[in-house]
Amino acid sequence: MKNVNVAIVGATGAVGTKILEKLVERKFPAKSIKLLASKRSAGVEIKAAGETYIVHETTPEAFEGIDIAFFSAGGSISEKFAHEAVKRGAVVIDNTSFFRMDPNTPLVVPEVNPQELEKHSGIIANPNCSTIQMVAALKPIKDQYGLNRLIVSTYQAVSGAGAEAIDELADQSKQFSERSEIKAEVLPSSSAERHYPIAFNAIPQIDLFDESGYTLEELKMINETKKIFNDYEMSVAATCVRLPVVSGHSESVYIEIDKDNVTVADIHAILKNAPGVVLQDDPATQLYPMPLYSEGKDEVFVGRIRKDLNHPRGFHLWIVSDNLLKGAALNSVQIAEKLLD
Ligand code: A2P
Repeated sequence: MKNVNVAIVGATGAVGTKILEKLVERKFPAKSIKLLASKRSAGVEIKAAGETYIVHETTPEAFEGIDIAFFSAGGSISEKFAHEAVKRGAVVIDNTSFFRMDPNTPLVVPEVNPQELEKHSGIIANPNCSTIQMVAALKPIKDQYGLNRLIVSTYQAVSGAGAEAIDELADQSKQFSERSEIKAEVLPSSSAERHYPIAFNAIPQIDLFDESGYTLEELKMINETKKIFNDYEMSVAATCVRLPVVSGHSESVYIEIDKDNVTVADIHAILKNAPGVVLQDDPATQLYPMPLYSEGKDEVFVGRIRKDLNHPRGFHLWIVSDNLLKGAALNSVQIAEKLLD
């Protein structure tokens, strides 16, 4: 497959706009790029690298002649249109959670499990943003030393909840500084019964709760990590928290490896050579990753690596990446690039 016709569903959204940017920036061999969104946006013009693209309404017929379709318009739109695209000959790269746990749909991070791509039958799922950056950093450690236990707490940016959530953080920050009433309508989830301000707050709920007491975001991290590593024995726990950060998810990760006598220097050596990973770990010069500085960057940044003080095979890490890039748009475009290899 070379010189393909591409469509982006959700092209006006937080992730969709980044997919277009990445396709252009990485000189993806696209013959044409068709932007799709809701009927409301039909006719809207989007500019990228000097080109003007017109947005069209998403309909089944819009996928005629499309070879690769990126979807990032929410699970219900993927449910409605992904098969329509596949029926018309497209390969779908889906950014929503809709197909991720389907056993017939590969869930792919190109640095971690590219071999899964061969098994696709039309749809490939892009994992959850928090999962992607974590598995990209942990994969080389797991390969070298084994990994039997993982406990992650996330500090997630509002852009993961879409353009509306970014606007809400900006509006609430203004309302706060003007001492006016703070309006909360989007977070923790637009379908949640109660909404809370995100400005100057931390919300320990991302997406809705399951009857287990975990949120759907936490369960995504747990289940997707096992699927991507193809390791269902591994013990994984997650707590996901939303912070008033625009872009860049941060994660405090505790791991227990299989091998004894591994040092922080050993982990440093592995991460220095890991694809897509940048080691930023020097307490003496206060070097550690932060979301503000990961914004707009493609890599996964890792620092604050420490040996646990009690468990001989336990390590703590701090992992940060731009959730809209490696966590979403970039990973999707890298999947498409692998398909063309
Ligand atoms: P639109 O701008 O026309 O509403 P975000 O993740 O930033 O919230 O963006 C969601 C994306 O999903 C937007 O591009 C949005 O387009 C798109 N979208 C929402 N509803 C539909 C729909 N019914 N059909 C196609 N795209 C949709």
